[in-house]
Amino acid sequence: MRKLIDSAEIDIRLEALARSIAAEMPADFTMVVVMKGAMVFAADLLRALGVEGARPRLETIQLASYGDGKTSSGAVSQTGGVPPGLQGRHVLVVDDIADSGRSLDWARALLFRAGAADVRLCALLDKPSRREVPVPLDFVGFTIDDVFVVGYGIDYAEDYRYLPFIGAVD
Ligand code: IMP
Ligand code: MG
Repeated sequence: MRKLIDSAEIDIRLEALARSIAAEMPADFTMVVVMKGAMVFAADLLRALGVEGARPRLETIQLASYGDGKTSSGAVSQTGGVPPGLQGRHVLVVDDIADSGRSLDWARALLFRAGAADVRLCALLDKPSRREVPVPLDFVGFTIDDVFVVGYGIDYAEDYRYLPFIGAVD
């Protein structure tokens, strides 16, 4: 595995990302974190948003589209319930990676069905060359090539989430 993005780079990018989110979202919104991959990113982003003067609420959804392999199964499934209290709320979906785009597209539809007034999408990493479903990303941390990544919450078959940096697996 090789280091792709180190923790200092992540910190710097997150500060700027939080600044643009705080500038573009209403101060009062709900961050919906796609578990489990986005939890480390979301924890850091939440605090960075607080520093920038935003007051986000926090909810989670759990989606699965990857099995234990490195390629998507193609089908998105949801485990667990739909967050309560989204009626009329401005929502920011926070995910780890936009790959085919299916998960974010699915999450967006789900949250509109749950009554959200507006749904914006944020991904730590964007792999535009892998996109199959055109999905409008509002906020992106880093744009990367078609490489399989791990660390900073992101797994390969449930391992490597603990790494403080983002690494590429060959
Ligand atoms: P999509 O629905 O194809 O956009 O897939 C998105 C999900 O697949 C992400 O939220 C990740 O959980 C997973 N995924 C995509 N690429 C990678 C990767 O490089 N490493 C680990 N998980 C990935
Ligand atoms: Mg995911």
